[in-house]
Amino acid sequence: MSSVFWLCNAGVQLELPQMRLDKYLATHSDATRTLAKMAIKTGRVEVNGVVVKDQGKKVKPEDVVTINGRELKESGEVYLVMNKQAGIICATQDEEQDTVLDFLDGYTHKVLHIAGRLDKDTTGLVLITSDGKWSHRVTSPNYVCEKVYLLETILPIQESYIEEFSAGILLRDETKPTKPANLEILSPTSARLTLTEGKYHQVKRMFGAMGNRVTKLHRESVGGVMLDGLGEGEFRELTESEINSF
Ligand code: URA
Repeated sequence: MSSVFWLCNAGVQLELPQMRLDKYLATHSDATRTLAKMAIKTGRVEVNGVVVKDQGKKVKPEDVVTINGRELKESGEVYLVMNKQAGIICATQDEEQDTVLDFLDGYTHKVLHIAGRLDKDTTGLVLITSDGKWSHRVTSPNYVCEKVYLLETILPIQESYIEEFSAGILLRDETKPTKPANLEILSPTSARLTLTEGKYHQVKRMFGAMGNRVTKLHRESVGGVMLDGLGEGEFRELTESEINSF
């Protein structure tokens, strides 16, 4: 039987479609049908926890299908948060250097990109997704999204920075001043800075404009997403509420 039947309230029998496993993979991920077949053949696909090597196996809507141990969600989209270590670049591909995407085994069935990059020497929270509309909401200047940074500087941080950052400063090569930012001084040379935008090298340039220099930079959170104990180099999937918070 190639379909599942169930009774709705009105007593009418509706038909929920079943789908061949290779087609299911191709429609729920970026894999082509050929790649999907290869994944099935090499034992990388499980249905309800059991390896299935039959490409024609019928998959029901309620079945849990995994590829490389990762579940394919109904939408097929991937939303991840990673705690980036220093020395790794935020790029999708690089011939010579390690990129954050090189660490995401198990998610290679989707074309991923980074929603808001960090510099190579900056550590902390990076969002990675396959959903272009979602990453636009995270990074677009039209949406307010707080990004919180912990930083250390080479020279003492002056109280006067608080007022200047709150009023907004005009950075070199920019036509508009920075949006109001909140600076909390934690020690003579460390602080927490909250931005609602993400201009190129913004934190370093803001301190540079004050005649200071950032020596260490770490992103703690973006919107409602926190690292929640993720170790350096570790990543996790976002929860539904985290995804929907943007
Ligand atoms: N601002 C910077 O200067 N660098 C980063 O990596 C992020 C924000």
